[in-house]
Amino acid sequence: MLSEDIKAEEMAIEIYTKQLDMVKDDSVKRLLERVIRDENFHRIEFSELKEKVMEGIVCMQEEPKKADPKVIEVLNKFLQEEYQTIINYLYQFFHSKDINHRDVMLDIAIESMVHMGKLGEAIGELGGMPDIRADLGKRDRKTMQESLAENIKFERETGGDYKKALGHIEDDGVKKLFEFIESQEEYHRHMLMELFKKMRRLTVGDLRRKE
Ligand SMILES: [Fe+2]
Ligand SMILES: [Fe+2]
Ligand SMILES: [Fe+2]
Repeated sequence: MLSEDIKAEEMAIEIYTKQLDMVKDDSVKRLLERVIRDENFHRIEFSELKEKVMEGIVCMQEEPKKADPKVIEVLNKFLQEEYQTIINYLYQFFHSKDINHRDVMLDIAIESMVHMGKLGEAIGELGGMPDIRADLGKRDRKTMQESLAENIKFERETGGDYKKALGHIEDDGVKKLFEFIESQEEYHRHMLMELFKKMRRLTVGDLRRKE
């Protein structure tokens, strides 16, 4: 079954890569590139699982590991950041009346939930405990453009944080996880930038169509 799964991921990569060659539109290209990266992570996950199965080391309950507090601390810092991010994007989703804006906010909130979930799993696998602390304080009312500009800056920073942390991490699984999340943060930034441009076109009109 796992071999079939690996084959399916490889086929998906092949098909998307062919489509990537045919497509001219920039945002579709970026989407395809992102999907290819995601499929590649799936392929790696299945391959690793298959290797484990072949070696016969998959069992229901894996031996509890002794947690390295430094690694757990780093992971928890990102876990809390993702949690905060989910709340921020959901807040914007619930408060926005613009359909495009709502779509993007919900998409990124959901992907941040995936990031948070995977970080929590990694913490558990390494023998630590997920520590959720978030600042749920009041949020100021901002214009859509103001909050989008902040979101873009934030995505750039988090992406950078994951990249920086990568240099200090030794655990292979955590390394791969950070690479995966970092590439998605990069995509979030692009999504937001495109939305920002679209919003500006709608509000400023034709005056500034050329940048
Ligand atoms: Fe996949
Ligand atoms: Fe994230
Ligand atoms: Fe993000």
